[in-house]
Amino acid sequence: MQRTLIIIKPDAFMKKIVGKVIRQFEEEGFEMLGTKFVKMTPEQAGKFYIEHKGKSFYEPLVKFMSSNPCLVTVWGGSNVIKRSRAIIGKTDPADAQGGTIRERWARDGRHNIVHGADSPESAEREIEFFFPYGEGLYKWEQREYIKK
Ligand code: RTP
Ligand code: MG
Repeated sequence: MQRTLIIIKPDAFMKKIVGKVIRQFEEEGFEMLGTKFVKMTPEQAGKFYIEHKGKSFYEPLVKFMSSNPCLVTVWGGSNVIKRSRAIIGKTDPADAQGGTIRERWARDGRHNIVHGADSPESAEREIEFFFPYGEGLYKWEQREYIKK
């Protein structure tokens, strides 16, 4: 089973659609393996988005992501990385396909409701970032948490 990291961004809280967003992933058949309510410091957000350092949107992105809490979630499922990116939609809602999360609820290419890891390598790095050693993630089949 593949895993991915999805962050429900502060704008989803402002719009009070956190439950609706989670529902999209549940309806796709993915299972939630763990979650954390986190207000990142600017330093943490900067480190999380380090691949974008130097780009024009990096500083405002870091500011936005550390402005208020996010809901960090880990999901498991078959081909979950690609399939979750498909239901999230393109970065800018103007380009996003109808019915995707961003087409329905994003304001613009920055305030776009969710983050989704884009490759198996990014997913594992990002999961480790918020859940070191996978600690706190739940193994549904074994009915136990991953321990350090
Ligand atoms: P994400 O990483 O959040 O899932 O989004 P993504 O792959 O679709 O987009 P990416 O290129 O990785 O950009 C990361 C986040 O940076 C913000 N952004 N702002 N032109 C802009 O103002 C701009 N471009 C990107 C968005 O919040 C985007 O999700
Ligand atoms: Mg990305």
